[in-house]
Amino acid sequence: MNDPIPSLPVLIARNLQRDFTLAGDKTLEVLRGIDLEIYESEMVAVRGLSGVGKSTLLHCIGLLDTPTCGELIYRDGESTWQSPGISEQNRCDLRNRFIGFVFQFFHLLNDLDVLENVMLPSIVSCTSSQWRKKRSKVETRARELLQRVDLEGRARQAPGTLSGGERQRVAIARALINNPRLLLCDEPTGNLDTRNSESIHTLLRELHEELGTSILVVTHDPDLANRADRLLSMIDGKFHD
Ligand SMILES: Nc1ncnc2c1ncn2[C@@H]1O[C@H](COP(=O)(O)OP(=O)(O)OP(=O)(O)O)[C@@H](O)[C@H]1O
Ligand SMILES: [Mg+2]
Repeated sequence: MNDPIPSLPVLIARNLQRDFTLAGDKTLEVLRGIDLEIYESEMVAVRGLSGVGKSTLLHCIGLLDTPTCGELIYRDGESTWQSPGISEQNRCDLRNRFIGFVFQFFHLLNDLDVLENVMLPSIVSCTSSQWRKKRSKVETRARELLQRVDLEGRARQAPGTLSGGERQRVAIARALINNPRLLLCDEPTGNLDTRNSESIHTLLRELHEELGTSILVVTHDPDLANRADRLLSMIDGKFHD
């Protein structure tokens, strides 16, 4: 019998370093040579003490921050993008379509209703004429995602009227609207009680299995860490098994 075909990495980070310049020209070395591969359909959890650099790593991988040095490679089928060297347009496209972000504090816009929040990454990724053409399709997908996270009846509410757990479910739906290859979650249950945390853990695991999206999740929560395929510990700006 042939060996199963190994899956390929959707993300490769090589020797990622991030320094911050502090007052008095002091340098804070946060990421000190991160090597990481995340494979198709893999869920990887990262844990580490507060201040060790977990959010910094997610921001660098999510192209919200630029590493001081090192390489990031993103792969979607036959296409690859390598940073440094990505054009500004490709950076925006990757941030919008390849990557989905879920934050601890949800970051929903209260001036928009729940449905509009879920549609937002799709709105910002196209011109107004493209938007006119695809609006109804995107709205259908947003409603399907809201149904998937059990919030179909809340589409027209403001996010501020929802509970913390419900808001995080909206944020997860929003992160998935463009069908990303890689979902980055930064302490997605850090602001929730045990019952809501448990339901977000189950949802993330189920969505991961249903959609095959790769997930990199930073968490202090042992239950969520235990549900991952792989658990990495960050110590002194590097990974240790
Ligand atoms: N823009 C910045 N300028 C200076 N220092 C920064 C900046 N961003 C982060 N840091 C510092 O980098 C270190 C790592 O921060 P980071 O937020 O990545 O930690 P963390 O592991 O996510 O912590 P926590 O578990 O508390 O969220 C901290 O000491 C922080 O103060
Ligand atoms: Mg953090």
